[in-house]
Amino acid sequence: MNILRAFFIYLSQHRGMQRLVLRNPVARRASRRFVAGETLAEGVAAVQALNRLGIHASLNYLGEKTTSPAEAEEAAGRYLEILGAITRERLDCNLSIKLSQLGLAADAALAERLLRRILEAAGRDGIFVRIDMEESALVDPTLALWHRVWEEGHTNVGLVIQSYLRRSEQDVAALVGTGVRIRLVKGAYLEPRAVAYPRKADVDAAYRRLTEVLLRRGTYPAIATHDPQMIAHARAVAAANGIGPERYEFQMIYGVRRDLQSALVRQGYHVRVYVPFGEQWYPYFMRRLGERPANVFFLLRSVFAEWR
Ligand code: FDA
Repeated sequence: MNILRAFFIYLSQHRGMQRLVLRNPVARRASRRFVAGETLAEGVAAVQALNRLGIHASLNYLGEKTTSPAEAEEAAGRYLEILGAITRERLDCNLSIKLSQLGLAADAALAERLLRRILEAAGRDGIFVRIDMEESALVDPTLALWHRVWEEGHTNVGLVIQSYLRRSEQDVAALVGTGVRIRLVKGAYLEPRAVAYPRKADVDAAYRRLTEVLLRRGTYPAIATHDPQMIAHARAVAAANGIGPERYEFQMIYGVRRDLQSALVRQGYHVRVYVPFGEQWYPYFMRRLGERPANVFFLLRSVFAEWR
């Protein structure tokens, strides 16, 4: 784990820093590089712009680690509004949600009820819902909840697997035959070395192995990365196994490698961009800053320009 990343993940959980940054107009403007805006209308406009470029989208209403039932209910309500907008505006878009935002860590029964409400509404409109994966402590509760709704017949719901977790190869082996759609990521949280590979080379090697399993045996997997080497590897595995570009998709984050997103679309690949919006952009923005020194320079440049 590099120090920059660990530092920004630490900051992402710091309440005092959050208050400071959320009030800061320069930080708010800089966050717009990675966050579509604070309102649903801004999220919808960002999706429409992507759709015009031939890029699919997934809308996410920012928020995590909800502790009050009222906030969890509120988040679920916002997700229902997003589903309404996707249908009304005929967006080429699905939904990404976080179960901790629906209260999973505090009240699993409430999160389950709210997830069902969202899946039922999405199912009626034929919209797919992706459950983001969060800290390792939430992996088992997330998989258990997914399993229950899946068994009830909600097959419009997919999961995320993080290649940095030592357990992920076993999880994929258990999931791959079910037909669930999996998004493969490297992983964005601070995890102990007993749980996650500390070395980037091991995370990348696991990403390659999991890509291969998902492409060969999975159901419409999503290769979610900005790493050109991982993308090249996925393309090579697909080509070697006669897997056409219609059988999987690449996913990237709003505001990151827009050049690569468009290049892949031009080459005939499906590309989906994760579009977050909402007032709770602070932890998400901090995690993005920690992913690359260039992102921090980008923020510093904005602060400096403002100061001048
Ligand atoms: P990594 O950070 O290893 O960087 C490798 C290379 O990629 C870099 O050297 C550079 O070339 C390129 N690159 C990476 N970031 C770049 C940037 N900002 N600008 C330009 N180039 C860049 N995580 C999680 O734990 N749970 C989840 O549910 C999700 N969901 C999710 C959805 C989608 C659509 C994506 C793309 C990612 C996630 N993630 C996630 C985040 C993921 O775990 C990871 O933290 C980031 O994608 C960064 O890892 P990369 O694979 O992009 O490359």
